[in-house]
Amino acid sequence: MTTLLQVEQIETYIGQYYILQGVSLEVRQGEITVLLGRNGAGKTTTLRSLMALNPISKGRITYKGEEIHNLATYEIARRGIGYVPEDQGVFPALTVEENLKLAMQNTDAATLERRDWILNLFPDLKTFWKKQAGVLSGGQKQMLAIARAYVNDNELLLVDEPSKGLAPIMVEKVMRSLEEMKQKVTVVLVEQNFFMASSIGDRFYIMDDGMTVLDGQMSELAADERLRKEYLGIA
Ligand SMILES: Nc1ncnc2c1ncn2[C@@H]1O[C@H](COP(=O)(O)OP(=O)(O)OP(=O)(O)O)[C@@H](O)[C@H]1O
Ligand SMILES: [Mg+2]
Repeated sequence: MTTLLQVEQIETYIGQYYILQGVSLEVRQGEITVLLGRNGAGKTTTLRSLMALNPISKGRITYKGEEIHNLATYEIARRGIGYVPEDQGVFPALTVEENLKLAMQNTDAATLERRDWILNLFPDLKTFWKKQAGVLSGGQKQMLAIARAYVNDNELLLVDEPSKGLAPIMVEKVMRSLEEMKQKVTVVLVEQNFFMASSIGDRFYIMDDGMTVLDGQMSELAADERLRKEYLGIA
């Protein structure tokens, strides 16, 4: 299987704090790669480092075989990497339609086709099309945030804890949608809900104290209670 994104021993400072101390990932095309780890392990900082929102001080990031770690955030986005941040970043005063329009870099046929595809996946967005995004539920905002990253010609989506704070039924909906999206895009998913993560993930990486400490097939981790206890503190 083709490697889409390769992250080699990256290190990142936030101000004076040494946060990422050696993170390595290999993201294969067409898969969902799940980034796991306790609170504060460095998952969000890893995604932000990939987007150069927190620039790395060491290491190497290659996307489709080209180095991207010296590029600016907008250039990385233009290469085809979409980022769905933890806080979703939707504009509450704008309508669903306006939020999506603002995100669209293009109005060509391919973009409109992707927009229609994602709206079919998230019919709630069609229902609330002319409503301000501020009135959406947490789950619907999450759908809008994912849709905004998806409408552009992105081959890779970085999604940070989409289930956070959502009602269980919404968690299920969002996860099933990500699973659907797998036929279209490659996903790096940060997820604390291990049950959900293991139901859709192909491969996993576990982070601890700013480092990747274990990786493998999701099915192996799901079957190994001892590993989960040791690295994630969950059975
Ligand atoms: N702006 C900042 N200034 C100082 N330290 C920070 C800053 N942002 C993050 N950190 C620290 O970096 C470490 C990693 O944080 P990060 O948000 O990447 O973890 P995380 O794995 O995403 O955690 P969570 O599961 O809680 O979202 C934490 O110790 C955090 O306190
Ligand atoms: Mg986080």
